[in-house]
Amino acid sequence: MGYHTPVLLDKCIEGLNIQPSGNYVDVTFGGGGHAAVMLEHLEDGHLFAFDQDSDAARNAFDDSRFTLIPQNFKYLKNFLSFYKATPVDGILADLGVSSHQFDSAERGFSIRFDGPLDLRMDASKGQSAADLVNTADFASLARILRMYGELKNPGKAASAIISARDVQAISTTEELKAALKSCATRGKENKYFAQVFQALRIEVNAELEALEAMLKQSLEVLKPGGRLVVMSYHSLEDRLVKNFIKSGNFEGKIEKDFFGKANLPFHRISRKPIIANEEEIAKNPRARSAKLRIAEKI
Ligand SMILES: C[S@@+](CC[C@H](N)C(=O)[O-])C[C@H]1O[C@@H](n2cnc3c(N)ncnc32)[C@H](O)[C@@H]1O
Repeated sequence: MGYHTPVLLDKCIEGLNIQPSGNYVDVTFGGGGHAAVMLEHLEDGHLFAFDQDSDAARNAFDDSRFTLIPQNFKYLKNFLSFYKATPVDGILADLGVSSHQFDSAERGFSIRFDGPLDLRMDASKGQSAADLVNTADFASLARILRMYGELKNPGKAASAIISARDVQAISTTEELKAALKSCATRGKENKYFAQVFQALRIEVNAELEALEAMLKQSLEVLKPGGRLVVMSYHSLEDRLVKNFIKSGNFEGKIEKDFFGKANLPFHRISRKPIIANEEEIAKNPRARSAKLRIAEKI
């Protein structure tokens, strides 16, 4: 298996409805799995790819039709304007973490390895997960663990973290796991730790804020008829995507004009999210929680 097996590849490509001369954006380049196939569908079009993780640059294609923008996709509009790439014909987002990030012990993304508790996709910016667990107050920790990790006992976990750090600062993945062992159901520790790591990751990378910013800007940079194709792996992400596609805002509230006509930004290509089948999930466990939504700008 390579750097990253792309999830729902055919559905994403179909959803993008690629015009051979169009301008496309992959905002989550990663291992370039989706991007490689997007590029195959282009003739004299261009593919712009964002990734905030400097490791992704190793996978950049040596192709005059390809430009890697090593930035957070929350700056989508600014960078596309800089490259005179707007308006674009399609945007793909495959949210979350790459297998490469999960498999690198030194990045702290995985509960499988002992490593520094970092969890930043862009290791040059912001606070690490260790900074967060060592400084956040009880209420913030509990909120993060409940909202982003969907823990049933976030208060207990927050207290356990605070007791542990009062003895010694938590700096590695194993130290965090040791602090939380008594909070997890016996035999289900790994699932519990995975939920905790997910929560910390979403917080330190401000993932929902970046997603909101990117979605808003997608409307400004897409051509009428341009496609927005987004794959999410967490219910909070999927809710933002679903609401935004439906209504142009994150509450999902449909706004009407003076004459009572609904002001809709997108035409939904599929009403329900597309999910992977059992065969794909068996080959690629990451596909299990993927929800794909496809929309066309009106
Ligand atoms: C699931 S992987 C994408 C995998 C890719 N589709 C492939 O086939 O190889 C997500 C990638 O998006 C990047 N990423 C996540 N959030 C980002 C953001 N806000 N800005 C830029 N890159 C981001 C991560 O660093 C990671 O490399």
